[in-house]
Amino acid sequence: MKKFLIALLTASMIGGFAGCSSTSSSSSTTSKKASDSKIGVAMPTKSLQRWNQDGTNMKSQLEAKGYKVDLQYAENDVNTQVSQIENMITSGDKVIVIAPIDGSALTDVLSKASDEGVKVVSYDRLIMNTPNVDYYATFDNFKVGVIQGQFIENKLGLKDGKGPFNMEVFGGSPDDNNAKVFYQGEMSVLKKYIDNGKLVVKSGQVDFDKVAISGWKSETAQARMDNIITSKYASGAKLDVVLSPNDSLAIGVVASLKNAGYGTSSKPFPILTGQDCDKPNVVALKNDQQSMSVFKDTRNLATNVVKMVDAIVSGKKAPVNDTKTYNNGSKVVPSFLCDPISVDKSNYKQVLIDTKYYSESDIK
Ligand code: BGC
Repeated sequence: MKKFLIALLTASMIGGFAGCSSTSSSSSTTSKKASDSKIGVAMPTKSLQRWNQDGTNMKSQLEAKGYKVDLQYAENDVNTQVSQIENMITSGDKVIVIAPIDGSALTDVLSKASDEGVKVVSYDRLIMNTPNVDYYATFDNFKVGVIQGQFIENKLGLKDGKGPFNMEVFGGSPDDNNAKVFYQGEMSVLKKYIDNGKLVVKSGQVDFDKVAISGWKSETAQARMDNIITSKYASGAKLDVVLSPNDSLAIGVVASLKNAGYGTSSKPFPILTGQDCDKPNVVALKNDQQSMSVFKDTRNLATNVVKMVDAIVSGKKAPVNDTKTYNNGSKVVPSFLCDPISVDKSNYKQVLIDTKYYSESDIK
């Protein structure tokens, strides 16, 4: 996978845009407690742009409050992430914020965290099968899927009875709880059209376990799209829609479609969804290769996680806005959900440029 160099986000980019404000207040000045506390931030990988932004935002916002920050990336290797968390526990971190690689692989290490009195915030992805996760902060993952499904529904006029259209479906990594929730949101809108024949999936692969792409890898998505095109669309059948849950898979799908001759006036790109508004994908939006992406403002997620950390360090209850949805198999984890936003060619400037998430030169 292509690696992306990420420019550091400026302080002016912090805070402010998408709807994910919390109801409770938090301290804004450096406290004695903050300067005494080291916070661990365990991110999955540098290979995807969004996690670089998450890490950068978390570090700068925590440091602005006076915390010491131990930010680690594990290059999508579960054992590396486990040992990074072990080090964070032994080096005395007060709170560890974790975006897990495999949501179910942290039970043992988090039981050590609990023994040492270290609090844990699950970041973006839910940590599964352990009582030792104190809070969860994420975007409304079901809503992400609904936004993608509704985009397809509207573009194709499915509500008006139009169709049939040929669609292929991709899913995220099976070890990531988010992937299942995105899929549920998507299918809450689209399943009825698959069932009534208005959306035809020629590969026959619709169930999550048939369409899931391990590790969210672009190249695996590309290979699967290649196979489907060769086996089901070689005879001239046109692909009208590809449901991709995120931008890394969309990148692989676009590469495959280009190789198969899509992108001409006689064979335009199908409708293609995504998520994250990664820079290459915003370029693809501008070039009509990808139709939409779902923007999740990582600045706001970081702001809300920092509020959680502040509350935990001061021995208070952290701000949450959902206490029902996210059962990790061991307990319902109190959560703070931020709002995702649908982005396409018509509004990317307003959502991404006007709010200084990107500059025009980032997405040339
Ligand atoms: C995140 C997405 C991201 C995907 C791949 C998911 O857990 O919510 O934003 O695209 O992981 O990294």
